[in-house]
Amino acid sequence: MDNVIDFDRYDRIRPIRWTGDSLELLDQRKLPFVVEYVRCDDSDAVAAAIHALTVRGAPAIGIAAGWGVVLASRTVEAANGVEAAAKLEPAMQRLNAARPTAVNLAWALARMRRVLTAAGSDWRAVLEREAQAIAEEDLAANRRMGALGAALIPPGSGVLTHCNTGSLATAGFGTALGVIRAGVAEGRIDKVYAGETRPWLQGARLTVWELQQDGIDPTLIADAAASHLMKTGQVQWVIVGADRICANGDTANKIGTYQLAIAARHHGLKFMVVAPSSTVDMETPSGDAIHIEERDPGELFGVGGVRTAAEQVGAWNPVFDVTPHELIDAIVTERGVIERPDAAAMKAAFGG
Ligand code: MRU
Repeated sequence: MDNVIDFDRYDRIRPIRWTGDSLELLDQRKLPFVVEYVRCDDSDAVAAAIHALTVRGAPAIGIAAGWGVVLASRTVEAANGVEAAAKLEPAMQRLNAARPTAVNLAWALARMRRVLTAAGSDWRAVLEREAQAIAEEDLAANRRMGALGAALIPPGSGVLTHCNTGSLATAGFGTALGVIRAGVAEGRIDKVYAGETRPWLQGARLTVWELQQDGIDPTLIADAAASHLMKTGQVQWVIVGADRICANGDTANKIGTYQLAIAARHHGLKFMVVAPSSTVDMETPSGDAIHIEERDPGELFGVGGVRTAAEQVGAWNPVFDVTPHELIDAIVTERGVIERPDAAAMKAAFGG
């Protein structure tokens, strides 16, 4: 099938804007009703924005952290990169601590650290170029993954996605949502279902908003409706993003992903994970070793600031889960498609 993807049509949303002396983040806590950028003038403001989900999504928080290091560099005097690296390390540690599960954050900081320690007196310019490169490479990876992932989907398919994996979560176009955009453009996907994604409603607020702007009308479902949707034969693929893909293919993603994978296998549907290679963590052997972020239980007590839970209740709020590799039919990165991922296939694709 010809590649007929009009990328410009899908490239209107940018969650992260570098102005030359500050970072502007599209405030994802307020979408879709308020479209407002918040300005970060220093790296601690970026770390706070990552923690607060002002900017969110694995690739996006890596990109934001890269610019956070550039902002931190403005406060440091150093003759060369090695000296600067030592002075910037505390700020980098604070950025890294903002969220634990998505490996893209640590990956971007390691990349910034690596170029910095090799830099001479031009270390500031080196950092700025690297932050820009991280963003540009992410956009290119998403476009490539869109084409690779869409090619797996037979024409006339229905798909279900979870959380938000679109332009808002990346430098642009999206990971799983990029595959969905490409699949719709190529006539492979007829119907898109988006799960609400409690408690932050990334699906209901962000994915629906993004797709509507492309002229794609998703159908929203309650998270609890997913198994019934699968049983009624309306979807053939579940397509999700990832926050960390381990050396054996086990994948951490937004809470609720694991139960979708179990239900998909039960109903004989296919399950696709789409993520750039910056999400692959070959140093973590399996999902058991992933630090799953637990957020404030208060996030579960209401919707949009209105309390819905009975008073005095306790709550447990893990915000990611791990899908075992056995339940994944394909992992799509910009380097290619890994079908039925396991340790050997991951090693062949990404090295030891
Ligand atoms: O808590 P969030 O909104 O940052 O979680 C985001 C997800 O889990 C996404 O599915 C994942 O980061 C992939 S985004 C391309």
